[in-house]
Amino acid sequence: MKLLAPSILSADFYVLGEQISACIRGGADLLHFDVMDGHFVPNITFGPVVLESIKKHCSIPLDAHLMIENVDKYIPDFIKAGADMVSIHVENNHHIHRSLELIKSLGAKAGVVINPATPLSALEEVLLYVDFVLLMSVNPGFGGQKFITRSIERLKKLKSMVLGINPKVLIEIDGGINESNIVEVAQAGADILVVGSGIFASQDIEAQTRKLKNLLISSEAL
Ligand code: DX5
Ligand code: ZN
Repeated sequence: MKLLAPSILSADFYVLGEQISACIRGGADLLHFDVMDGHFVPNITFGPVVLESIKKHCSIPLDAHLMIENVDKYIPDFIKAGADMVSIHVENNHHIHRSLELIKSLGAKAGVVINPATPLSALEEVLLYVDFVLLMSVNPGFGGQKFITRSIERLKKLKSMVLGINPKVLIEIDGGINESNIVEVAQAGADILVVGSGIFASQDIEAQTRKLKNLLISSEAL
């Protein structure tokens, strides 16, 4: 089953709870949190306290995408706050095996993230140790960017790598996904589709989430 993961980065934080509830009513499968520290990426967002508040009211899994330095220092805080999935960048870590094992030892699913210009070969070894891979289809740091079309080729190649090395690994894709490309992206091999502005820019978040979820369901039948 293809999973839809709204990214709250594009939400209106004044009414965050209402908007998350609308996503859940519309069929969101998990919630994606873009954690940025102003060092690894040129933007600052939020920390574990935000996940902790949401976790108390929300039954779907929380997916923390860490775009921060010193991941080992903060991984325990995010899992304690309620993250069910935690992903870290392959570009950002000299001891990625240790960080992935840390995530798993604390009971969360471990993911590795790869930026658009990083060769997929950087994942070869690491695929043995992860539950999921997050393929970036924009450069990380901001919502609302344009999908990098080359990502479709990368996704297909990644899918075949995963099948060859560790078929249990799920593929998540993140950046520039919206109603016009979600079916193509799902069919190219993505299992989890992150959508930020493609949901939260809508006047009716519940209806937009449902529309995207239905497109994903229809893509499975094609
Ligand atoms: C970018 C983030 C994405 C982003 C997606 O650094 O990882 O999750 O918020 O937003 P859209 O769907 O607007 O590209
Ligand atoms: Zn993200």
